[in-house]
Amino acid sequence: MARIKYLILAAVLFAAGTASAKDKEVYKDPSAPVEARVEDLLGRMTLYEKVAQLSQYTLGRNDNVNNLGEAVSHIPAEIGSLIYFDGNAVLRNAMQRRAVEESRLGIPVLFGYDVIHGFRTVFQIPLGQAASWNPDLAAKANRAAAQEASAAGIDWTFSPMVDVARDPRWGRVSEGYGEDSYTNAVFGAAAVKAYQGDDLSAEGNIAACLKHYVGYGASEAGRDYVPTEISAQTLWDTYLPSFEAGVRAGAATVMSAFNIISGVPASANHYTMTEVLKEKWGHDGFIVSDWDAIAQLVNQGMAADGKEAACYAFNAGLEMDMNDGLYMKHLQALVEEGKVSMDMVDDAVRRVLRLKFRLGLFEDPYTDERPEEECFLLPESLAAAEQLAQESMVLLKNEDSTLPLSGVSKIALIGPLADNQEDLLGNWSARGRAEDVVSIHDGLVKEMEGIAEVLLARGCGFDGQDTTMFPEAERIAGEADIVIVCLGEKRGWSGENASRSTISLPDIQERLLRAVSRAGKPVVLLLSSGRPLDVSRMDRYADAILEIWQPGVCAGKAVAGILSGRYNPSGKLAITFPYSTGQIPIYYNHRNRARRGTQGLYQDIQSTPMYEFGYGLSYTTFEYGPLTVSSDSVAPDGSITAEITVTNTGNVDGKETVHWFICDPYSRLTRPVKELRSFGKQLIKAGESVTFRFEIDPLRDLGFVDGDGNRFVEPGEYRIMVKDRTAVINVTD
Ligand code: GLC
Repeated sequence: MARIKYLILAAVLFAAGTASAKDKEVYKDPSAPVEARVEDLLGRMTLYEKVAQLSQYTLGRNDNVNNLGEAVSHIPAEIGSLIYFDGNAVLRNAMQRRAVEESRLGIPVLFGYDVIHGFRTVFQIPLGQAASWNPDLAAKANRAAAQEASAAGIDWTFSPMVDVARDPRWGRVSEGYGEDSYTNAVFGAAAVKAYQGDDLSAEGNIAACLKHYVGYGASEAGRDYVPTEISAQTLWDTYLPSFEAGVRAGAATVMSAFNIISGVPASANHYTMTEVLKEKWGHDGFIVSDWDAIAQLVNQGMAADGKEAACYAFNAGLEMDMNDGLYMKHLQALVEEGKVSMDMVDDAVRRVLRLKFRLGLFEDPYTDERPEEECFLLPESLAAAEQLAQESMVLLKNEDSTLPLSGVSKIALIGPLADNQEDLLGNWSARGRAEDVVSIHDGLVKEMEGIAEVLLARGCGFDGQDTTMFPEAERIAGEADIVIVCLGEKRGWSGENASRSTISLPDIQERLLRAVSRAGKPVVLLLSSGRPLDVSRMDRYADAILEIWQPGVCAGKAVAGILSGRYNPSGKLAITFPYSTGQIPIYYNHRNRARRGTQGLYQDIQSTPMYEFGYGLSYTTFEYGPLTVSSDSVAPDGSITAEITVTNTGNVDGKETVHWFICDPYSRLTRPVKELRSFGKQLIKAGESVTFRFEIDPLRDLGFVDGDGNRFVEPGEYRIMVKDRTAVINVTD
């Protein structure tokens, strides 16, 4: 906060130091400091113009089925921001011309859009990206997404979503980076830097938006838009870290969430939006509400009407109103009635103008209108899409080295996803098109050309009871040397407002698997989903299982590359696969129960998950050496290095991720049984070894946070853990 005040003072002095502020339009001077331009422009604005900057409507054909609301018939030229739903810059430039040329001060509009995992080149969904454990590669995809979005006239993406999610019934688990705070923090920060670059005004850079602030992933029973119960301590140790990392990475904006946080809605929560984000973390950007989230304060039982909702939200520190128009309707009156202070309005407008100046919108308000082929699906983007898809797929089972395919001349490819394109895009696929997607069938036919024939039969739909296509599937299974069954979810079964009561696939799909397995051939099960699935009943009918998530435009190429062995799978789960829906929530970094042994376990099913966080197989084998530490004790302000050497003992090269966990077995605030604090992924050639290191900063890596967000590290025993290896160290007084 002090930093912002200093900048404002410097700006005022600068403006005063030049010719009188009113004569020289400092805000139009690109050589002037941003803060001076902000102050000069702010000083010229009427209250109406200020309120308009704090409002966002939509422009273009809104195809978001969950948010179809009434588009504003006449968009004022003074509007601050628009969600832009078109795929090129033409409509956007026409609107921008109105703002720049028709409005009194010519303030450009900020165009935002949901570029979540690609714009036209659609990449693997974020939950899958996390399973790559390659944030640099994910960042490459986000860079490409920013360049495509920017070419279409988007200045600002409502991404990355960094909501820790532990309930796979919640559809939005697909949009974030899984169940762990540190994973969401690392991938979220990488996405921010990839979108924004080092200079927001440089070509191809767009502003990022951390969402959904905060705790949305704790939605009760996996339902959407519902309340969450989050203790102050859990808020700090589980849900805030990924947002703090994003703010430290320079995220320009944050989006307030739909959930109630233990009684106080996130979009009217002064503690999170002002005391934490602005005062404790010093965020100098702004918060945009989620769609109609201010109006929804009425549904949530906080505000009696829209005006009261606007008052609550604005005074809590929510700067921009997405879509419901309540700030445009009521903020001026609320200021005139003294219920909202002009100082707060000015601070909010400063934050919006600051981003517009940083983006260079005043100097360069228009987007070049270039042909699509120059902007989208470029070779380097497609290469990144294929690599990210390959590195994110997780080999869950591979009995008797069923994979990679070898010695087969006839392959039966079966299932609702065998020749599907659209659903492999996943949810929130922006301007992605089904015809851009390489289907599993097309990818496999190309990969096995001259090696094996691929027979195709859909077998069944995604759901329903129709078994009329079973016989054809069973026939080709009988003819083939190996059966590949492609099961999973429709793209709309995950994402927003897509909660499901069970993580099992519809029965028809499991029946198809059972039916074709009766041919007695090796069975490879490919799963495409936006969430962990219940695999427990399917497992016995499959010799190999590969989770491909929703891999985007290069789906078929990536899958075929893994099936043929051209690419050795290296993905590992960033979210637990429960044994059944009944186990939910089940996640790796849980605390201990009061009883040990068999007490406190389910009486009817296993209490361990089907596949745990960090699990994933390879076509090669890796042998882990001893875990060593540079010392067995360390001062709180000291440092210590942990090392482990991993050897590729197989006969194919492979990438391996080492996850470094810590455990504080005894603490005044009880801690999870283990916590991820670092990870590294390296290529290890067959027969070679690589040493992985973890440079430990006790406060950062062993410490914890209390209910006020104060990080502390207690003296005493700590354990550094990799797989089944543990090194014990002692933090001294
Ligand atoms: C939606 C989503 C949010 C998205 C916004 C704009 O309701 O919750 O993630 O960014 O509206 O589309």
